[in-house]
Amino acid sequence: MGKGNKERAKERREKRRHEISLLRTIPYSDHQRWWSSDTIAVVTGANRGIGFEIARQIASHGLTVILTSRETKVGEEAAKVLQEGGLNVMFHQLDVVDSSSIELFADWVKQTFGGIDILVNNAGVNFNADSANSVEFAEKVIDTNYFGTKNMIKALIPLMRPSASGARIVNVSSRLGRLNGRRNRIGNLSLRQQLEDDSSLSEELIDQTVTTFLEQVKDGSWTSGGWPQVFTDYSLSKLAVNSYTRLMSRVLSDRPEGQKVYINCYCPGWVKTAMTGWAGHTSPEEGADTAVWLALLPDQFVDLAILNRIKKTSSIALSSPVDELLNLM
Ligand SMILES: NC(=O)c1ccc[n+]([C@@H]2O[C@H](COP(=O)([O-])OP(=O)(O)OC[C@H]3O[C@@H](n4cnc5c(N)ncnc54)[C@H](OP(=O)(O)O)[C@@H]3O)[C@@H](O)[C@H]2O)c1
Repeated sequence: MGKGNKERAKERREKRRHEISLLRTIPYSDHQRWWSSDTIAVVTGANRGIGFEIARQIASHGLTVILTSRETKVGEEAAKVLQEGGLNVMFHQLDVVDSSSIELFADWVKQTFGGIDILVNNAGVNFNADSANSVEFAEKVIDTNYFGTKNMIKALIPLMRPSASGARIVNVSSRLGRLNGRRNRIGNLSLRQQLEDDSSLSEELIDQTVTTFLEQVKDGSWTSGGWPQVFTDYSLSKLAVNSYTRLMSRVLSDRPEGQKVYINCYCPGWVKTAMTGWAGHTSPEEGADTAVWLALLPDQFVDLAILNRIKKTSSIALSSPVDELLNLM
């Protein structure tokens, strides 16, 4: 009897993961390490799940990690676990939707380190499960996942330290927010084209898109608005993150040598965390490793050949010194 669809899909997934893990071994040989223990990485929502793992893995590579969490107690406990493992990890409170918390955090970073080198925007929420598609918490979802990510980028770019290898921003996103996937995409072709096209993509357009959705949620018309059909509010929040990542990669590419900031986003896969009720295909360790790879990638490796290979195998957005861009489209 032939293989079933599920089995074939599983094989394809395993093959893709194997290919990606081969690619990710590239940057980690000794002479390609551009960082040291003075390199500072900030991870948001790092008290648990994928964020905790990103913090652990980055610190394991010898960098200093600022593990942040909106709840001080759980954040301190998470940092303690990593410190007890011999890792260079500090804790600071940070709520990505609270402007005063972000301001206090940025001031502390400036006073303590003078600046940072890596920002991983991992904090996120989702209130949908299984086949349910509630928009009850749509505002919170868009606020945290999109505006929270944007808040952090705006607050911390001025603190990114100049360096020959460039500072890094990694946004933990989702393929549910792909602009041009076969399924779950925005139904409005004209809007999709505007978001896709670099000449029309703008912060105003992305903000307007999520605002229109939230207005329709309020007046009850969202079901006929042509929005993504699965986990609608979450998918749209991540679509906004993907689009904003592309926009910022273009904006940041104008910075002179020595002051470059590379920005990428990626999908960790379906990961067994609290967000999924511990259902999924991958462990938090595996879900975290692409973020770590993107954060530490030597810039000479972000070339067209690698981008093309990744394009065939994964859902990763990369901005590069050669101005090549892939996105979660
Ligand atoms: N798991 C998956 O299958 C999957 C798939 C694709 C993408 N992702 C993305 O991966 C990221 C991490 O998710 P996860 O699976 O690890 O889920 P998780 O275990 O629920 O972790 C989410 C983290 O975000 C934090 N957070 C939420 N709102 C915050 C805020 N306003 N300020 C600061 N931190 C906040 C949470 O803090 P509290 O503990 O205080 O709630 C928690 O630390 C999210 O961006 C998610 O969308 C996950």
